Amino acid sequence: MCQSCAVSFPRWEGQCRACGAWNSLVETVASPSHRRPASGDGAQALVGTGEPRALGGLGARPVVRIPVGLGELDRVLGGGLVPGSLLLLAGEPGVGKSTLVLQLAAGVAACVTPDAAAGETAEAAAAATGSGAAVSLPVLYASGEESSAQLHLRADRLGLVHGPAGRGIHVLESTDVDAIIEVAHKASPTLLVVDSIQLLTAAGLEGPAGSVGQVRESAARLGGLARSTGTTVLLVGHVTKDGSLAGPRTLEHLVDGVLVLEGDRSGPLRVLRGLKNRHGSTDEVGLLEMSGGGLRELQDPAHAFLRDAQRQAPGLAVAAILEGSRPLLVEVEALVAPTGFGPPRRTVAGIDTNRLLLLVAVLGRRGGVDLSGRDVYVSLAGGVSVEEPALDLPLVLAMASSARDRALPSSTLSCGEVSLLGEVRPIRGLERRLREAARLGFRRAIVPWDGQAEVKRARIARSLEVVPVRSLREALEAALGAIGGTSG
Ligand code: TYD
Ligand code: MG
Repeated sequence: MCQSCAVSFPRWEGQCRACGAWNSLVETVASPSHRRPASGDGAQALVGTGEPRALGGLGARPVVRIPVGLGELDRVLGGGLVPGSLLLLAGEPGVGKSTLVLQLAAGVAACVTPDAAAGETAEAAAAATGSGAAVSLPVLYASGEESSAQLHLRADRLGLVHGPAGRGIHVLESTDVDAIIEVAHKASPTLLVVDSIQLLTAAGLEGPAGSVGQVRESAARLGGLARSTGTTVLLVGHVTKDGSLAGPRTLEHLVDGVLVLEGDRSGPLRVLRGLKNRHGSTDEVGLLEMSGGGLRELQDPAHAFLRDAQRQAPGLAVAAILEGSRPLLVEVEALVAPTGFGPPRRTVAGIDTNRLLLLVAVLGRRGGVDLSGRDVYVSLAGGVSVEEPALDLPLVLAMASSARDRALPSSTLSCGEVSLLGEVRPIRGLERRLREAARLGFRRAIVPWDGQAEVKRARIARSLEVVPVRSLREALEAALGAIGGTSG
């Protein structure tokens, strides 16, 4: 069975004929239970009443979300956890998934006061588990990666051992999905955490834990539990940098929501993104900081990717980007250097390589800055990755600035999409970006011409001079002065 696309073949081959992945076929013994309809290709079919009903009459129960206490997390989730949903938290090993999940579990345990339905559930669970002790709100934490002792150590470090979290989170050391489901049925927790999905094995299925068949079947069974009992199930999954590890990627359409935690492990900054959300938007990102006491909300997110508005250096440009509805100012660094031998190198961090290649070509043909025969390195500060087209203009300006070895004027920012024709195209939310820039002390903004009316109406701030540009050449002139010869 191919570990990246789950298509099966009768014998081993070096390359999967379905998805083209190399060395991805793993011998798996197909057993009858493997053919269960539940884990077919895609989401599970819901068993309904069999009668069609009017759309307007379906929303019988209003959705009550459970806030998790960490503002940035609630923001990404769209206000909290939806009961009965199946979520996946994916990220590279060591990025902080277990930490985040434990904090989230503590939030759920803490922020629901034992009244109304929650109280009843808690008591029912306490009775069911036979402990007799009053539980504020049961979270079942199925840990396959860490032992109870390790979990306790982590909780202690996060200051969660005493208080509602210490009482409300119940830890189960198990990697057998059916055992976990059985305990969950008895305890009926509000939240079931599974750390991690790659370690689970489903009975009746051959193949090692973490293989695509096991992962999908385990997730399908846990999804069934979520839907039938109203327990929110949160799965933790590892992804390697190139996304090559099978598990989480094939899970994406099985679950109701996918959260991705990214960031440079050597730095404190973490970005939480919603890749998919059936119960809300995927626009929002959460900005977190890894500290000695776990993950914290950033005090001033605007400053996270920006050291100082006044900083000047050849190759440095500041971009005003929009992450969801939140404006951020990000430093873009570029280095253009002579190529030693062989074809010129194009190395990027945080942006798409193809986008860079395109911009290098446009800059050469339409901006008069020829970078052929020179290496180009580009990176974004803070280890973020940005896909927004508004990043084009700052990227181009940073490269031109490095190529000419001339710094952009201080306190200048830019944003705008660059077309193949060398035009600067309008972007969404220009006004919001400029307001944030003015707040952070920027004095000059190079922006697309078409946003003018919007900006004028908004009257951002007197301290911020807005320079509208129509083309790449105009932008280069506004940022670096009159165009001399090519390539500096
Ligand atoms: P972890 O949550 O174990 O990562 P994952 O589950 O994604 O593999 O945490 C990874 C790192 O976080 C760990 O190497 C140490 C660091 N860390 C802190 O800096 N502060 C803390 O309070 C905790 C709990 C962890
Ligand atoms: Mg972990």
